[in-house]
Amino acid sequence: MSIHTNDIKRITTHILQEMKYNNEKIAMLTGYDFSLAKIVDTAGIDIILVGDSASNVMAGHETTLPITLDQMIYHASSVVRAAQRALVVVDLPFGSYQGNSKEALSSAIRIMKESGAHAVKMEGGSEILESVERILSAGIPVMGHLGLTPQSIYKFGTYVVRAKEEEEAKKLLEDAKLLEDAGCFAIVLEKIPAHLATKVAKEVKIPIIGIGAGNGVDGQVLVLHDMLGITHEFSPRFLRRYNNLYEEIKGSVESYIKDVKSLDFPNEKEQY
Ligand code: KIV
Repeated sequence: MSIHTNDIKRITTHILQEMKYNNEKIAMLTGYDFSLAKIVDTAGIDIILVGDSASNVMAGHETTLPITLDQMIYHASSVVRAAQRALVVVDLPFGSYQGNSKEALSSAIRIMKESGAHAVKMEGGSEILESVERILSAGIPVMGHLGLTPQSIYKFGTYVVRAKEEEEAKKLLEDAKLLEDAGCFAIVLEKIPAHLATKVAKEVKIPIIGIGAGNGVDGQVLVLHDMLGITHEFSPRFLRRYNNLYEEIKGSVESYIKDVKSLDFPNEKEQY
């Protein structure tokens, strides 16, 4: 009888904390489907975030608001089947946790039970603290998300840099400390001044992962389709594109169409 052994060591929240202590940066990318998540995991990413940006990237919505809990669970379970090493974190979607802490807990439990993911992420600070605490008390790891929080886009009105003014910066730092004290294992800071993000990363002990928050933090996250250049309309200053897959995929599809139309494909070796 052969016993299945898996030599790949899973990244845990504990390992992420050690990485911060050892000043080893944490690399995180989004993932929404099995095939790309498999590549990202094999490449050695630390965290795969099943972001509610799936609403934009996968479903073509203008905002992250429309995606449902069922749809997030579908994406998350595809990613979980692919990820052998990465910690898989799933966004609680808009409307699944803002109502009250009981609803928040049952949404988080559904994600953990039905997808097999390892943690959830929630946008907000003091406003959602009770829900964060309730989810944590059920043993579910929570990643916070402060700064530009896209689920509140209709409150902000625009996607501009957040916390530039002193009052908002002060609240952000307070919220980060509240989330740390509550027991969150990490916090994403989105689109805030680099000096503020650096200050937060210095003043809280848990890992701070930035997106548009400079390099004084403990790790970075990007949306996979943006950094691969599959999406090409979205070009914020913080985005580094590592490829131009939009053009590469389009070129391949154009070649295929040409080959089909000209009877070049399939050739003799490509048929039975
Ligand atoms: O949904 C998402 O992709 C995110 C990242 C931008 C952090 O929350």
